[in-house]
Amino acid sequence: MESTPVKITDTILRDAHQSLLATRMRTDDMLPIAEKLDQVGYHSVEMWGGATFDSAMRFLNEDPWERIRKLKEKMPNTPFQMLLRGQNIVGYKHYPDDIVEKFVVLAKRNGIDIFRIFDAVNDVRNMAWAMKVAKREGAHVQASICYTISPVHDIPSYIKMAKELADLGADSICIKDMAGLISPYVAYELVGELKKAVDLPIQLHTHYTSGMASAAVLKAVEAGVDIVDTAISSIAGLTSQPPTETIVRILQETPRDTGLDLNLLAEISAYFAEARKHYAKFESGLKGVDVRVLQYQIPGGMLSNLLAQLREQNAEDRYEEVLEEVPRVRAELGYPPLVTPSSQIVGTQATLNVILGERYKVIPEEVKNYVKGMYGRPPAPIDPKVKKLVLGDEEPIDCRPADLIPPGYEKAKEEIGDLARSEEDIISYALFPQVARSFLERRAGGSGSKEEIVAAIAAMVAARATAHFRPLEVSPPPTMISPWRIAWRPGRPGWGGLIK
Ligand code: CO
Repeated sequence: MESTPVKITDTILRDAHQSLLATRMRTDDMLPIAEKLDQVGYHSVEMWGGATFDSAMRFLNEDPWERIRKLKEKMPNTPFQMLLRGQNIVGYKHYPDDIVEKFVVLAKRNGIDIFRIFDAVNDVRNMAWAMKVAKREGAHVQASICYTISPVHDIPSYIKMAKELADLGADSICIKDMAGLISPYVAYELVGELKKAVDLPIQLHTHYTSGMASAAVLKAVEAGVDIVDTAISSIAGLTSQPPTETIVRILQETPRDTGLDLNLLAEISAYFAEARKHYAKFESGLKGVDVRVLQYQIPGGMLSNLLAQLREQNAEDRYEEVLEEVPRVRAELGYPPLVTPSSQIVGTQATLNVILGERYKVIPEEVKNYVKGMYGRPPAPIDPKVKKLVLGDEEPIDCRPADLIPPGYEKAKEEIGDLARSEEDIISYALFPQVARSFLERRAGGSGSKEEIVAAIAAMVAARATAHFRPLEVSPPPTMISPWRIAWRPGRPGWGGLIK
């Protein structure tokens, strides 16, 4: 029988630690094993984007751009892959086109080979510009379909979207199952239909949360999937990806044998088992499979964050109510897939609805913007009653949200001034003004100087103190501040970090 190896993308340097270790893995913990990773023969290593960019500056006092360059030096043979949130880039709101363009150009120049691009509400208009620029720059454009379950999401809807993405120039299609909802038989059917509908490689990205991931991968392989995402076993499972070695072993001596060396993978796994210990305080405490994700469609990371948030309000006893409220709010908001930033939007509103004892009594700015169409077109129409409550007589926008955003690069360049030493710095600032400014100020203290070391330690202490409750840069509306400090927490798995 003809052999067609399944290709493997290892997520160890991005989604695996984003999902299990709150995106805290430092470049220094990646470099010692980089040469070994480079010998594996992965299709790609996902190592950038998602929440890592924000987290590097915010929590680790690291330059995110430097991570690509340092790793590339040690891994010249392995394609580097990043997760790009379309017009949201690596942030939580829509950015202007010139910032998207510059970001993609610089990411490619620094060493990103494959751009996995998605939009939280599957609005392809929010992906088109990033896809076009990545393509123009000679990168591989992987366009994603966010997989979710709802009355308006079915296989024909995903096929339709895949065809649109193919028409926009996608080089491959990713089924992005950020919550781990896809069942093995649906994976089989969806991959089979996609293979028939578009003449492009298909990749499956799923999470282990519900326990179905390895089986889903196997059925996807049977249906002809080209590439699958896995994570090295010591940082796999739970809310991360299925273990690389397990999938490699399952497929050994079949026509779809990956050809990867289990001994080499074992060495790498042993390394990360040790490295994981550095981040113990960021682990969620989840002990195994969490099937509530299937019941409520709430991703694992989001569950633990909801609970933490309620604890802060001394409202832990309302947990079940919030769990039930999330799907209700999601339905009213037109069934968005729960992924950054829609997971924060839905989760925050649901929590407020329960805690305040009256639904939509307080409506955060992000929810207003969402209903206004500022995140794109929801998969289904928004409930008219909720729309009326949120917008009154105002009509939502119908255009692509970024069409309303003026260019931002020159403004950012002027604002950050001499603190920026490169175009990369200017983009970091344009994406996260406050976080980048403090980072660049610390850096300006002098490389290796006493001031820098003091600042780095101070930043680390501050990051630890606020690790679980960190408001977004977008300041909450006054109604939200007290006593309900419902915070968005970028970098947390699921809730802030679901981004996946
Ligand atoms: Co993911």
